[in-house]
Amino acid sequence: MKSIETYSDYLEVYQKSVSQPEVFWAETAAEFSWIKPWDKVLDWNFNTPEVSWFTGAELNITQNCLDRHLSEYGEKLAVIWEPNDPAEPVRKITYARLHELVCRFANVLVANGTKKGDRICIYMPMVPEAMVAMLACARVGAVHSVVFAGFSAQSISDRINDSGCNMIITADGTMRGDKKINLKEIVDDALQVCPTIKHCIVFKNRGWNIEMKAGRDTWWHSEMHKVNAVHTAEVMKPEDPLFILYTSGSTGKPKGVLHTCCGYMVQTGFSFKTVFNYKPHQIFWCTADVGWVTGHSYIVYGPLLNAATQVMFEGIPTFPDAGRFWDVVDKHEVNIFYTAPTAIRSLMAYGDKYLEDKKLTSLEVLGSVGEPINEEAWYWYHDKVGREHCAIVDTWWQTETGSVLMTPIAGLGVAKPGYAMYPMPGVQPVLVNEKGEEITGNGVEGNLCIKFPWPSMARTVFGDHERFRQTYFSTYPGLYFTGDGCKRDEEGFYRITGRVDDVINVSGHRIGTGEVEDAINDHECVVESAVVGFPHDIKGQGLYAYVICDKPITDLVKLQQEIKQLVNDRIGPFARPDKIQLVRALPKTRSGKIMRRILRKIAEGETSNLGDTTTLLDPAVVEDIKSGVQ
Ligand code: WTA
Repeated sequence: MKSIETYSDYLEVYQKSVSQPEVFWAETAAEFSWIKPWDKVLDWNFNTPEVSWFTGAELNITQNCLDRHLSEYGEKLAVIWEPNDPAEPVRKITYARLHELVCRFANVLVANGTKKGDRICIYMPMVPEAMVAMLACARVGAVHSVVFAGFSAQSISDRINDSGCNMIITADGTMRGDKKINLKEIVDDALQVCPTIKHCIVFKNRGWNIEMKAGRDTWWHSEMHKVNAVHTAEVMKPEDPLFILYTSGSTGKPKGVLHTCCGYMVQTGFSFKTVFNYKPHQIFWCTADVGWVTGHSYIVYGPLLNAATQVMFEGIPTFPDAGRFWDVVDKHEVNIFYTAPTAIRSLMAYGDKYLEDKKLTSLEVLGSVGEPINEEAWYWYHDKVGREHCAIVDTWWQTETGSVLMTPIAGLGVAKPGYAMYPMPGVQPVLVNEKGEEITGNGVEGNLCIKFPWPSMARTVFGDHERFRQTYFSTYPGLYFTGDGCKRDEEGFYRITGRVDDVINVSGHRIGTGEVEDAINDHECVVESAVVGFPHDIKGQGLYAYVICDKPITDLVKLQQEIKQLVNDRIGPFARPDKIQLVRALPKTRSGKIMRRILRKIAEGETSNLGDTTTLLDPAVVEDIKSGVQ
């Protein structure tokens, strides 16, 4: 396939990718290694919805991530691991070594009874073994379900029970900055209510004294010693599941979004190379956590499919000080750096002094992901971090899309601050109005949908295909609905404006208002609550909770602390509300629906201009909330 080095190359490739999508994707797929080639490129129906790519093929994604690189790149570094504490040693892992570790751990899984199709939960810190565990699952055909190691015990057990995992892989603990995180303790707590879990394999990361439950828990290193390093990858069909990743939506509990082996491989591999314009000598660093989709696609699969060398970082941007990212960039001569706007805004707030003594001369491409990037942060990133010469790629995508769908491609020179710019080859975005009609032309705004399948799209919600259909394919029949609002400017470039549903994006983490409300409502004094987002300087959006209690509250501060703790325990620290207001009632329509629009405006500090309140059951409620009546 033609490589994309200029914007006119892009236009040519894009044109072909939409006029002949099957030819385009077949050419893209031909660059991978296949046990057996496909018979048919695509079957699809967005109503049922069912999508299958590359029917008839046989493959294993880890063979493409590892085995196929060994002859040429066996001695090339796959991972340069930077520990939380810069005084501790860096670990360097070649492709040959990573292959050996993955084969060994695949044998550990088999020795512990893992079979193709089994679900395995992974709750790990940012260490190379997290990657090894994921790849070993993929190698034996088990479905990994990684849970971000900032989630609470309850969130772990909910996820394990929803997908019926029979094993969990974790570590004793990790340090984030100077904070000690006892991962195994959290897992022990979760496993009290997880009857399906038979094995817990524990990686010794810190060497802390932890409890091991006889018959259930074993150490990673002792298991690894029992097996050899020879393992032939399981033969997988294209639509066999690869992983489940839970994500929040407007309603109900988080959904187990399911991705499959083949399409995911083709598009994450292709997108990594294309978006970042990756060249084999470059050092890549994505600061996400493997627990989120960005970590799956652009720490584990995308870079490894391209035999890239990457930095993997255990720590946080502000430890030992707010210059840590830039120290790591200089130390490992990072060329491509990929982070979230919230991190940029938070470092920007610490001031430029943390950048002034850094070289940063290795940087060529700067990526942004997870939420809209405001212009101020974009310019700071471009001018101060990129020293005005780096390409900025503002990549828009979702857990459900598997890989980047819209972005300016690095090196093509066509970019605007705050714009995801144009679709990747093979991606067909449309804007629709409330009625579901396509909005054509430029200088328009609407809800963002995708009208043609792409290989790395999610195939279902684990165990609930109807929920998958309802959530993504029923709002606008025949289209995949993203949940995002979007503008197309006069020149035809796209700018994502944010969620149009009840999902709130806090520091790049997707949080469903319903989940937080459920946690708050568990407080013994609370009868009802409503959570909305409000603009937050660092986090992008913060959480504002309105709560109704059934008894008089004498100590409001205590109540607020208890509610925050409750959300901490039910979901995780990142979902704690920033503001909690006690109210006597919520603004509801006569049919009982909470008018969140009004609550959002009040949370933003808007006191006039609340829009039409005549449909409210009791309009006086609004005045009471504004004036703080409890
Ligand atoms: C938002 C993260 C604006 C968007 C990869 C989307 C963005 C949600 C961008 C998905 C961007 C992601 N500009 N908004 N570049 N990237 N989003 O599933 O609202 O954690 O729907 O996937 O994040 O979040 P998720």
